[in-house]
Amino acid sequence: MIHCGKRHVCAIVVCIVIFGSILICSWKDAQLQDNMTRKTFPQGNSVISVGQFCKGKAAKNVITPLKDNRTFIISPYFDDREDKVIRVIGIVHHEDVKELYCWFCCQPHGKTYVSKAKIDVHSDRFGFPYGAADIVCLEPENCDPTHVSIHQSPHGDIGQLSRFEIKNRKAEPFSADFTVCISAMFGNYNNVLQFVQSMEMYKILGVQKVVIYKNNCSQMMEKVLKFYLEEGTVEVIPWPINSYLKVSSKWHFSMDAKDIGYYGQITALNDCIYRNMQRSRFVVLNDADEIILPLKHSDWKTMMSSLQEQNPGTGVFLFENHIFPETITTPMFNISSWNAVPGINILQHVHREPDRKEVFNPKKMIVDPRKVIQTSVHSVLRAYGTSVNVPMDVALIYHCRVPLQSNLPRESLIRDTTLWRYNSSLIMNVNKVLYQTVLEAQK
Ligand SMILES: *[C@@H]1O[C@H](CO)[C@@H](O)[C@H](O)[C@H]1NC(C)=O
Ligand SMILES: *[C@@H]1O[C@H](CO)[C@@H](O)[C@H](O)[C@H]1NC(C)=O
Ligand SMILES: *[C@@H]1O[C@H](CO)[C@@H](O)[C@H](O)[C@H]1NC(C)=O
Ligand SMILES: *[C@@H]1O[C@H](CO)[C@@H](O)[C@H](O)[C@H]1NC(C)=O
Repeated sequence: MIHCGKRHVCAIVVCIVIFGSILICSWKDAQLQDNMTRKTFPQGNSVISVGQFCKGKAAKNVITPLKDNRTFIISPYFDDREDKVIRVIGIVHHEDVKELYCWFCCQPHGKTYVSKAKIDVHSDRFGFPYGAADIVCLEPENCDPTHVSIHQSPHGDIGQLSRFEIKNRKAEPFSADFTVCISAMFGNYNNVLQFVQSMEMYKILGVQKVVIYKNNCSQMMEKVLKFYLEEGTVEVIPWPINSYLKVSSKWHFSMDAKDIGYYGQITALNDCIYRNMQRSRFVVLNDADEIILPLKHSDWKTMMSSLQEQNPGTGVFLFENHIFPETITTPMFNISSWNAVPGINILQHVHREPDRKEVFNPKKMIVDPRKVIQTSVHSVLRAYGTSVNVPMDVALIYHCRVPLQSNLPRESLIRDTTLWRYNSSLIMNVNKVLYQTVLEAQK
């Protein structure tokens, strides 16, 4: 309220207010058209320029290099769990990439807003120069961007940049209870029999979807993947990371001095968490030769409801890995038709290595993806809520592979036939797949 002593003073004040508003409005307008508005957002994030109309080439590939050859964009995801941000999952050189900008395409006027990104390189780089990164930008107000481009500079021609669709913007109902993420299938992968058995075990245990980041596999595996694609179980994410970076097949730089560890596994896992954040109740992070076997429940759904009930507020469930060496076999379940298929028959490997006092068994995880911010392979780096170790009597990871304790005689291993509980449905289901794919000729 303006209290006016005299009428003419009051008129002057009103005039000044109106005139001033007009001035400010036209000044703002001019600024908008001037391409150089500065508007401060919380956390020091600011819109640097506004103006160019949305343009750019739609990114077509899963991995898109920026012009610096030091930054690789996987995908942007909308994330409003704290602030309203766009989290871009990418790969960056940890020293060389210091500055990145999000170029948002705003609706409905179709103009570009540029804001500076926070670059958060994940702490689990294991000595490699390149690592998974979250490139995080606050979303401009009143923008509702559907697309974003990433650039090393706040200046430039948007027409030259790749444009990425922002995922997870619209809420959607769950389409899966469990989604398994298999990161980086590589090296002409041809363990067909074990893969099909794992897939059928996942399905028996309650999985609807398996996401596979595929670098490279054999022709026979391609046939199997095609079958599961058509069935709707598998989603293949092409992962040609070796086209851009020298990849290590080891997890630590000291073992194999390349650009990035283990075919960029950590980046794939983080992408998989965000990709399935809205559509899956749980995401399971394990390798294709690993199966989380419940001991007290018949499937993962009943196991997880029980675990959630006992551990309210927990979003990350850690399961202990146990090695069932591929070198120790039993004659039971030697199914003759399967001998024509390359790979391991897991039903013939039911002896596990004992724990070693000084060695810690690595863990794999079932997570509520909405509670995870950043994940590593054996634990999460950042999450809302707690992690819990699931005891051995509830479940263990059946992991059939080359032995870790190869000097141990058969008698020193523990016979564990938990997997056999599923023998009849597993054999039937595996036969169904094999006869429709790789054993087709013998049908
Ligand atoms: C990036 O890589 C491409 C293809 O390998 C090359 O042509 C280009 O010169 C590189 N750019 C920089 C900045 O290193
Ligand atoms: C897969 O990788 C192997 C080497 O690991 C290579 O010999 C083969 O040609 C690759 N296959 C495809 C389809 O790229
Ligand atoms: C399975 O049986 C075949 C003969 O039918 C035999 O040659 C092979 O060694 C057996 N494999 C295993 C792992 O028991
Ligand atoms: C195979 O599964 C059936 C039930 O489906 C069970 O009765 C049988 O004992 C299992 N076989 C072995 C060797 O465990």
